[in-house]
Amino acid sequence: MDEKLKQVKQMLAKYGQEQLLYEYNRLTDENQKQNFLDSILTVDFNQVKKLYEQSKNNPVFENSNIEPIQYVDKSKLTKEEYEELKEIGTKQIKSGKLAVVTMAGGQGTRLGHSGPKGTFDLGLDNHKTLFEILTDILIKAKKDYGVNIPWYIMTSEDNDKATEKFFEDKNYFGYPKECIIFFKQGELPMTSADGKLLIDEKHKIKEASDGHGGIFRSMLREGILFDMKARGVEWVFIGGVDNVLVKPIDPILIGLAIKKNVLAAGKSIIKANPNENVGVFCKKNGRPSVIEYSEITNEMAEKRDKNGELVYGESHILCNLFNIKAIEKVAQMNLPYHIAFKKADYIDEEGIIVKPDKPNAYKYEAFLFDAFEALDDIAILRVKREEEFAPVKNCEGVDSPETARKLYMEYMLKNN
Ligand code: UTP
Repeated sequence: MDEKLKQVKQMLAKYGQEQLLYEYNRLTDENQKQNFLDSILTVDFNQVKKLYEQSKNNPVFENSNIEPIQYVDKSKLTKEEYEELKEIGTKQIKSGKLAVVTMAGGQGTRLGHSGPKGTFDLGLDNHKTLFEILTDILIKAKKDYGVNIPWYIMTSEDNDKATEKFFEDKNYFGYPKECIIFFKQGELPMTSADGKLLIDEKHKIKEASDGHGGIFRSMLREGILFDMKARGVEWVFIGGVDNVLVKPIDPILIGLAIKKNVLAAGKSIIKANPNENVGVFCKKNGRPSVIEYSEITNEMAEKRDKNGELVYGESHILCNLFNIKAIEKVAQMNLPYHIAFKKADYIDEEGIIVKPDKPNAYKYEAFLFDAFEALDDIAILRVKREEEFAPVKNCEGVDSPETARKLYMEYMLKNN
């Protein structure tokens, strides 16, 4: 028997994944057969096994000491405090020390738009897409600060080509091409509900993006940290692609991090109600952290202080600032993986493409905010929801194009 095939068979037997051989036996093209074997050999079976086993255990917060976290309310800064932070931050921006990273590697399953999420038309009269709305912010920053801020866009294996082509076709919306840098995030195999690896339409092991927490490693692996340093960048704003009110170039946030002498900062908004589906900032065993809505107890979610404010009410909105030193540190670490049960197309044993209409597979994702625990402290800036948070997540209802469009238009009306 062919050596490679023998090796693969041994591996599959060891990890109980022999079902994959159906595909090998079914394929007739020798090249496809070899590619399939190669794709199996790239899998870290031990890691897959551990990830799947982890899916059986819920996170145990009871064993952690959770406390509220300090924050600074932007609207309550005195004029002097505001001006001081603004001056510190502005100096950094004007001297080219800020870069912006947009994470656009997600699958956008809830929105259901075909194509990269950033190419979604928000439905304004001018038909701007999410990417164009973001580009507007960078173009405005050039006017305000006199610098072209380098903009890094994280894509995924699935949407990388389409994203780059979109920007090329739109002539980068007028932003200098050399200041927009694309890089790909990593992937991990998905598994079925019973831990079996799946096969994708390209006759390879089915993989999916490894979550927005994969960004740190990807930045190192793809040479982005190197590129940033070469450009003199020291502070990096990292945000998602789908918040149309994101303010990535915020001197107050940078000023606050520098004044507090910390290597990261995050923006928060007050949780709309105790049951809102958002993660909240907290301290976990003395370190900054975020508890996901699925992980917080009802008692903690509803706890209020003497002023009637939610004790765990600082929602994390994926608007964070990192010093390049913090990114370098986290890029060397293993962030934990969280598990999501999602819909995933795959090829079945008969060679037929299955397109499930309900979740059928585990996706393993690292979360960006788990990086905070690697740092002693971070600064939190509470901002106003109506000024900084209008996400496009669902195709209708809450956090949908309709709600985001309304918030965006109201903001523009007031501020332009
Ligand atoms: P979400 O967690 O909202 O995921 O990502 P999503 O992929 O956009 O949507 P659903 O859950 O499939 O419906 C928040 C931000 O993080 C990015 C997304 O592109 C979005 O900007 N992200 C998420 C990545 O870049 N990579 C990932 O692996 C996951």
